[in-house]
Amino acid sequence: MKKEEIQIVYQEYETLSELPPQERMLIEKAHEAAKNAYAPYSKYHVGAAILLKNGAIILGNNQENVAYPSGLCAERVAIFAASANYPKEEIKAVAITAIAKDSAIKSPPFPCGSCRQVLAEYENRQTTPIKYILSAASGKSIVMTGIENLLPFPFV
Ligand code: THU
Repeated sequence: MKKEEIQIVYQEYETLSELPPQERMLIEKAHEAAKNAYAPYSKYHVGAAILLKNGAIILGNNQENVAYPSGLCAERVAIFAASANYPKEEIKAVAITAIAKDSAIKSPPFPCGSCRQVLAEYENRQTTPIKYILSAASGKSIVMTGIENLLPFPFV
């Protein structure tokens, strides 16, 4: 038996204004996308903005359904749309933010396990890592490059 350790690397920003301009711009796009989420059940509106190598920005937001499991998270709506419309284009960055109706969101919106698995597969299809920008509108932002910093042991 040998004991192993894994290191997770990320940058933390106290406020949105500290983020570099491109990251901030993507979070603003994700925020606009979150406003169009269809989330009548959870009232938790998530937005995702994906920057492709050709400069295109693909938006997604969570889409819920009265039959709960039939809905889909913002990240998967966005990344499936990106792959459907630009199947060959490299993904440079994924920005995610959330708006809750009755409370200020203080912690960054970390993607759920299923979204991490899906993000991992798209990142592994390309040669360069993806930058993930997770931002709470009224709190911290966390930025990491490479899915291994979000999902250390993906199913492959
Ligand atoms: N949600 C996302 O859009 N992304 C995540 O990574 C976590 C959760 C959505 C699903 C559901 O519509 C709502 O947030 C509450 O769970």
